[in-house]
Amino acid sequence: MEAIKLKEYRHPDKSYQKKFDALIGIDEHKSNLLFALRSILDEKNLHGWLKKYHPKGLPYIENSVLKDSLVILSGDVGCGKTEIAHSIATPLSKLMGGETIVVFETPSNIRGAGFVGQLPSRITEAFDVAKKSLKKGEFGILLIDEADDIATSRDQMQAHHEDRTGVNALIKEIDQLQREDVKLATVLITNRPNALDPAVVRRASLHLKFERPTEEILASVIERVFEGVKLENGTVKELVDLCLSKKLRYSYSDITKRIAKQSLALAWRREVALSKEIISEVIKQTEPSPYITENNKI
Ligand SMILES: Nc1ncnc2c1ncn2[C@@H]1O[C@H](COP(=O)(O)OP(=O)(O)OP(=O)(O)O)[C@@H](O)[C@H]1O
Ligand SMILES: [Mg+2]
Repeated sequence: MEAIKLKEYRHPDKSYQKKFDALIGIDEHKSNLLFALRSILDEKNLHGWLKKYHPKGLPYIENSVLKDSLVILSGDVGCGKTEIAHSIATPLSKLMGGETIVVFETPSNIRGAGFVGQLPSRITEAFDVAKKSLKKGEFGILLIDEADDIATSRDQMQAHHEDRTGVNALIKEIDQLQREDVKLATVLITNRPNALDPAVVRRASLHLKFERPTEEILASVIERVFEGVKLENGTVKELVDLCLSKKLRYSYSDITKRIAKQSLALAWRREVALSKEIISEVIKQTEPSPYITENNKI
């Protein structure tokens, strides 16, 4: 069987700080995730706090809660889950005084060639490779994106023994991390939180849910995306209203990728400047991405 290869991204890295800063409207998620990962990885700082405020220790919390190493990010498509998970290690490193943090990403073919028995051993291998790749003094984050594929509730699987053993292997690895002295946090990302196995969910010290932007945030997204375009007073509100007139709400990426790109293309093709008219025309033609349904990833 071919050995599993994890992609590695080393932080701090200025380009990731930019990506992190460009995520709009999710400041609370940003600070909660930063803090959750910090409490998993930044033991030194935590011990300083403990010594200062609880010199006699907090036995239960130190032995259980503080050893949790799992975080779950779930929610709708195009709402920043992958982007925040990939970029957060740089601001986290800053908080930790510039420590090196390596983000490991599991490959999309974690199932292997689909032979029976491959999935659990590949999950175990992914954790092993990440742990072994960390050099002394380095910190790691193992990203398992599109995790519903391997962490689906054992209840929801009919008789797929392979899938059940996959979830079991994942749970075992997460528990194993608690017993080891290795600085590795695990981040599971999924579109379908309700499909996740309850045993996996209950092991998470933080579960963040991502949603499409609300009216207020939509205005900031439009302002940011079309920065540099001459938009008169009240125009952003008009564009927001046009967005809200659709049956579904737009996701972040509908605006930042599709509408932005098509507006640029249209203005360019017509040899005119980007304007409210061009953006409105594109919004009228662009339907929001469909929502994820529980049984089917559309
Ligand atoms: N909060 C946000 N602010 C600004 N841009 C955003 C935000 N969320 C997402 N985007 C934009 O949408 C793109 C897609 O985001 P991302 O890949 O993180 O989505 P996702 O939640 O992982 O979606 P999926 O579930 O489909 O994988 C990003 O590259 C970014 O340009
Ligand atoms: Mg994603």
